[in-house]
Amino acid sequence: MIKEGRVLLDIKVPEVVSSDMEVFYNPHMRENRDFSLLILLAYFQGDVKVCDPMGASGVRLLRMLLEISKVEKAIYNDLNPKAVEFFKGLIKSHNIPLERVEVYQEDACLLLRRLRNLDYVDIDPFGSPVPFLESALLPLSRHGILAVSATDTSVLSGTYPNTCQRRYGSLPLLSAEFYHEVGIRILIKKVIEEGAKLDFALRPLFSYSYRHYFRVFFKKDIGPRRTDQIIRNIGYLLYCDACLYRQGVFLEGLRDRCPYCGNRLLWAGPLWLGELWDEELLKKMWEIRGMVEISKETNKLLKAILQEAKYKSVGFYSASAIARTFKIGQMPPIERFLKVFCGVRTHFTGEGFRTSLSHGEVLKRINELLQRP
Ligand SMILES: C[S@@+](CC[C@H](N)C(=O)[O-])C[C@H]1O[C@@H](n2cnc3c(N)ncnc32)[C@H](O)[C@@H]1O
Ligand SMILES: [Zn+2]
Repeated sequence: MIKEGRVLLDIKVPEVVSSDMEVFYNPHMRENRDFSLLILLAYFQGDVKVCDPMGASGVRLLRMLLEISKVEKAIYNDLNPKAVEFFKGLIKSHNIPLERVEVYQEDACLLLRRLRNLDYVDIDPFGSPVPFLESALLPLSRHGILAVSATDTSVLSGTYPNTCQRRYGSLPLLSAEFYHEVGIRILIKKVIEEGAKLDFALRPLFSYSYRHYFRVFFKKDIGPRRTDQIIRNIGYLLYCDACLYRQGVFLEGLRDRCPYCGNRLLWAGPLWLGELWDEELLKKMWEIRGMVEISKETNKLLKAILQEAKYKSVGFYSASAIARTFKIGQMPPIERFLKVFCGVRTHFTGEGFRTSLSHGEVLKRINELLQRP
């Protein structure tokens, strides 16, 4: 028996979790589910109707039903008949009233296109969420939340740039130390684009990168003007691999030489240049975190993001990229970097930090660091 939140699962998890499992359950996605619960609690006031159209074991919905009383109805779906039977068994063994659930076994897109007035839709597929995005946006009410997981992080982060261009319509940038952040910003751009063509304005509220996946929550609004406002935050990233200069720019700001060292610039995009987090929502999530059963890891991640979100930079610096680029032999500890660059750690990587300093100021302080290692 496995316990996750208040759910008890009779499931055998193999050493290597894979999509071959009879009924899919990934214990490493616990934090992913924890955050769904935190967002539901922090964001919604009244009763909510939630949908997990690729529900697998159904543990996500069951946790919502058990831990969040304002979840009035949970709509479960999975193509796999064994998963559907498993979920029905869980509903029974956990004494959930049948009127609180709807269960389907069909293609997620076909179902989503028939549903209406959902407050929360969670797209959590194997791999890329792209095939499901448009369908997921249609049944979502105004001010509803779309949650998106992507496990094709190597595509988004630059290992397979052709696939990224084909699937997401953007060029990634593996050579930047913050290539994961570039990947998340490309994913966000893609979701926004899928909404924009329907005059849906999707604003990212909470994003993170963890283990093998990216996760972003969007608030849906409706109307051409609101959508245009969102679109205005889509641009490009310029990056210099000789001096680590980076800057988010719009079309008119594109250039090919680094303003600091004259090196030829690399670029990525189009991608989201706006904020990755809504600070008010973050604070609320932090306040209410005791109301649901979350793991220590979730708590740690939320705490880190709460600090990180105060810095609005596009991209971050990393100790090893600075040491490598500027040939610092003996690398100082991360705490030294935080102090020298008035930085804050990023949840993206243990050796990364954000700073509000200009790149020119960063270069000046790197020089000081070189003189007094
Ligand atoms: C990564 S799992 C979902 C995990 C689940 N959301 C959770 O929180 O534990 C993906 C699930 O999608 C199902 N699936 C794959 N393609 C589908 C489709 N086109 N329509 C509906 N379900 C699908 C698979 O059977 C699998 O159970
Ligand atoms: Zn440069």
